[in-house]
Formats: sequence, structure tokens, C-alpha cells
Amino acid sequence: MNVDKRGQTKKIPIIDLSDPSDELVAHAVVKASEEWGIFQVVNHGIPMDLMQRLQEVGRQFFELSAAEKESVTRPVDSQDIQGYFPKDPKSLKAWDDHLIHNIWPPLSINYRYWPNNPSDYRDVTEEYTRNVTKLTDKIVGYLSKGLGLRCEALKEGLGGEEAEYVIRINYYPPSDSVIGAPAHTDFCGLALLVSNEVPGLQVFKDNHWFDVEYINSAVIVLIGDQIMRMSNGRYKNVLHRSIMDKEKTRMSWPVLVEPKHGLVVGPLPELTGDENPPKFESLTFQDYVYRKIKKLLRD
Ligand code: SIN
Ligand code: FE2
Repeated sequence: MNVDKRGQTKKIPIIDLSDPSDELVAHAVVKASEEWGIFQVVNHGIPMDLMQRLQEVGRQFFELSAAEKESVTRPVDSQDIQGYFPKDPKSLKAWDDHLIHNIWPPLSINYRYWPNNPSDYRDVTEEYTRNVTKLTDKIVGYLSKGLGLRCEALKEGLGGEEAEYVIRINYYPPSDSVIGAPAHTDFCGLALLVSNEVPGLQVFKDNHWFDVEYINSAVIVLIGDQIMRMSNGRYKNVLHRSIMDKEKTRMSWPVLVEPKHGLVVGPLPELTGDENPPKFESLTFQDYVYRKIKKLLRD
């Protein structure tokens, strides 16, 4: 149970997307994004069976030996940020064993980093991509309308059809001494995440860490830095981390929706003016990432 300082119970919002009132759904999405920067959606249209198959092929890949994972392991001298990254033995603060690669749009995909083993990895991931991109459009549409804009506005701000979708599969074996992912906000516009049945995701709000309850069929939506910046601070980029379980392996599958590296992103011009000066500098996504990493390394 999540309890705040005054002993009040607080829960990360759970939103039923099949609710017949589109207006109520839109309102709930907007409120959750303003107050928490995170919410869970249920009855979201992604078949449960597909979510299970996604988890199955990911688990099968991670259970292969290091030698079998070699074909998609990112070469040490590569500048590419895609591929399989085994845990860095030097990193004592986080368990960063993960596979990461683009899934959409087709031109951004490099199949060299998609596992061939298990053999249905590609089919399942492509089917999940069709579903997760559709769900993203729906959520981003609600968020745009919540700002008083056309429903395409935020998607266009992320580059429209050129916005990139990146899947990251995190593998956290049992441990009681290491944190899975240290506290951070996501660089991207937003992330849609599923996990296996082992809870571990936590979010920071009002000076407390709150557990994200595990719901079998839910997709967790996290607002990232770029939607916060485009909305001129109306929507919150959620600070989150993941902890590891003492006995069980936890896995998570965030899909990160991000602008192309050269795209300039900042507060949408429709939202700013004399009364509402921009709270953030407009920067290419690449510069934004560079500056944030530099700052993280310095702090
Ligand atoms: C992350 O945000 O990078 C990981 C979150 C999780 O494992 O649930
Ligand atoms: Fe994250």
C-alpha cells in the first residue's frame, strides 16, 4: 500500500480505455499526466495473448548463453546505440543487462539487432509494434486535446510519422544489493511499458517513492522529458526507478517514443506567448540528450 506523509493512500491512476465516455477517459489521462506523469491503462486494445507472447520471446532470448546472444551484441567499437548490452561488470549501481532496438518506422529499423533466436521474435515484435503505435496515437491524441490543441499536435511535435519507437528489454535477475534502474526521467516523449509479474517499478511524488502496482493486463504509460517540454510544463515527466527482487527475475519492456535526433523540440508555439513565456529552451533531440548526459555525469 502506498501511504503519504499524512497517512493518506495514494494510487497511481488506473484508466479503463473501454469506458464508453471518451470525455471521461480523456480527462483521466490528462489529470494523471498533470499530477503524476504516470498511469496504467487497461482494456487498451492490445490482446493479452500478444503481451504474453512478447514476454515469452524476450525471456527466451535472455535465457540463451552469452555465446548465443553474440550475434546481436553491440560491437565494442560501434557508435550505434542499438543491440544487446550485457551487464557491465564495472557498473555497481545498476543492473543494465538489456536489449534495445528500433521497431518503427521501417526506415529506422536495423534487423541486425533483432534476435533470430527464438525464431518467432520478429513476428511477435512486429505484431506488438502495430498495436503499441496505435495505442500511442490514442494517448497522445488525448494529451494534445487536453492542451486545447488538435489531436495530432503532440505527435507532430515528435516528428509525426518519423517519430521513432524503440523497444528496450530489461533483465533483472534476483538480487538484494543492486538497484535495477537508478532514478531517472525518460529522455523520450513518452514510454509505454509492460513487465512480467514481478513488481519493482517505483515513482517519486510528493517526496515519496510509490510502488507501481502490478496489473496483469495493463500497459504503464510514463510521460518523458519531451512531452513535458512540448507542453511547457503542463504534463509532468515522472521520476522513476526500478528495484530488483531478492528471489525472482524481473523483466520489463518499455517502448520509448522519441523524436529523430535532428528534430528541434521545445514548448509548442501555440502554448506560449507574452502571458506564457516558454519555460524550456528549444533544442534538437540530440543536443538535449547530449546536455542531459553531460549533466548527469557531472552531478
Ligand atoms: C526504466 O525505466 O528504464 C526501467 C523501468 C522498469 O524496469 O520497470
Ligand atoms: Fe525509464
